[in-house]
Parts: sequence; C-alpha cells; structure tokens
Amino acid sequence: MKKWSDTRAPSGRIAYVNGRYLPHGAAGVHIEDRALQLGDGIYEVTNVIDGKSIDEEAHLDRMERSLRELGIAMPMGRAALKLVMREMITRNRIADGLLYLQVTRGAAKRDHVPPKDPPRPTLILTMRAQDMAALAARMERGIAVSTQPDIRWGRCDIKTVQLLPNLLAKQAAKAAGGFEAWLVDEDGFVTEGASTNAWIVDADGTVITRDLSNAILPGVTRRIMLEAMAEAQMKFVERKFTLAEAKAAREAFISSATGAAVPVVAIDGQGIGGGVPGPLAKRIHQLYAAKAGMPQG
Ligand code: PDD
Repeated sequence: MKKWSDTRAPSGRIAYVNGRYLPHGAAGVHIEDRALQLGDGIYEVTNVIDGKSIDEEAHLDRMERSLRELGIAMPMGRAALKLVMREMITRNRIADGLLYLQVTRGAAKRDHVPPKDPPRPTLILTMRAQDMAALAARMERGIAVSTQPDIRWGRCDIKTVQLLPNLLAKQAAKAAGGFEAWLVDEDGFVTEGASTNAWIVDADGTVITRDLSNAILPGVTRRIMLEAMAEAQMKFVERKFTLAEAKAAREAFISSATGAAVPVVAIDGQGIGGGVPGPLAKRIHQLYAAKAGMPQG
C-alpha cells in the first residue's frame, strides 16, 4: 500500500516561494492567489541531469513568452532566476530530477478581471527526483497511449497551470491501460499528448510532428529534437497527422522534458511498429541527448 506521503505530501525537500527557501511541507501561498482562484498562472518543468538543468534557456524563453501573452511581469530577472534554480538543485541535493517553476499573477481580491494595479507575481519553485529506472524501462519497452478527445481551449500554446482537460484525458488514458493520452481534434488529427508532444514515422521513414499553432504547446524538447535531426540530415516534416496515419505508422514516440523520444508501441491497443520500440526513436533520443549536453551512457 502507498504511504500517505507518496500521494499527498508535497515532493522534494526545499521549496522556493517569493524569495524564501522553505521546508517543502511548510511552504505556501496566499489563499487569494490568482492561480489558486482562477488558474491565472503559468509553469515550466525542466529536466535536471547530473545536477544540470537541461535546455534551460529555451525553457526560460518560453516562460517569458507565456507571461507576455498573459500580461504578467517576470517576477525577477533571468540571471537571478537561474541562480534560484541552481540553489534549488544544490539545496535539494537531487542530481537527477525535475525542477518545477510556477509564476502566477499574484494575490488579489477575487475578480475575473486582472487588477489594474498588478500585485507582485508569485514565484514558486519545487524539485523532485526522477525515477530514472522507470524512465529507462519506458525507453526500453515503449509505452501505450490511449486517444481522447481534445477538449482544451484555443490557446494551448501558453503553458498555463489550467490543466483540467489534460488531467482528465490522462486519467481516462490510464484507465484504458495507457501511459499517456493522445489528444485528437474534431477533424481526427492528433494535436499532442496530455503532457507531451506527439510524433510518428511514416512508411518512407519521414518523421512527422504537428506544426506549431495555438493548438499545441511549443515543446522545448520537440524544438531541440528537430534541431538535432536537421543537423543529422534526417527527414522530417512539421504537419498535422490523423489518428489513422498514426495507427499505420512505422514508429511513434512522445517528447517532453521528462523524456525525449520515448517510444510508443501501442495506440488504443493496436501495436505500432510490431509492438516494439523502433530505431528512429532511439537515434533521435541519442541525438537529442548529445545536443542537450546530457551524459551519454
Ligand atoms: N509537460 N505538450 C504539453 C501539453 C505539455 O504539458 C508538455 C510538457 C509538452 C512538452 O513540452 P517540453 O518538451 O517543453 O517539456 C507538450 C510538462 C513536462 C508537464 O506538464 O509536466
């Protein structure tokens, strides 16, 4: 049986909240924080390998973009934020983990309209260890995905903390035996995963991932993978693909800060690529890891 602390207690040891490093369980925000009340905030997740935050600049670029789109100020300069990230890794003493950053519009009397005189944005950082053995097992064996209707809003390009449709899709996928949900739009095209970008490989060996638009999150891992593939002169195209194409694909995989090119070996119970991870996913994972400066092994 799971311990209470496995499911309910916050993870990590030290959290950062608005200028203070606190024991995780003692850290908190104001009850009128607009993220708590209205989902008025954004987040980032970076992968920490061997004490180093991976693709950090690209994550901070996207954080600034999300904030700009919502008209929320950066809570501190980038250089200072990087120092806080370093400090979190040091204080938590976690070599391989995930760093979570959240910025909200701050605490204010509840009103849908953001206050004219903006409150100080809330900045939260937490950290937790990654289960590297579980990730290695996913890379080795692949994962199953279950498709779910994409019922999200029209600005999925902003990494907001409003994740209800994503979590409902993931919950349904899990109930159907999947590790991830692949979201399918009204026209039968796959948009992305509930918390990952989606990729397939067609019969000619061309890698396909959906082009950027308001319909998907511009994944940092996606971007670095594409750059690595371009450098290696691999064939790829950024376009929408249908669920039917995905089910007929030679290979499929997902990407996020929590795993680059993790093979998908089944979609809705139907085997992909013979039900085993394919060579391109592996090669792209290696190219990405080298480009992102991850230790090779
Ligand atoms: N999720 N699409 C969605 C909807 C996501 O939530 C994520 C990331 C991605 C991949 O983006 P990136 O490569 O920058 O991690 C795509 C994070 C990991 C999360 O919600 O935990």
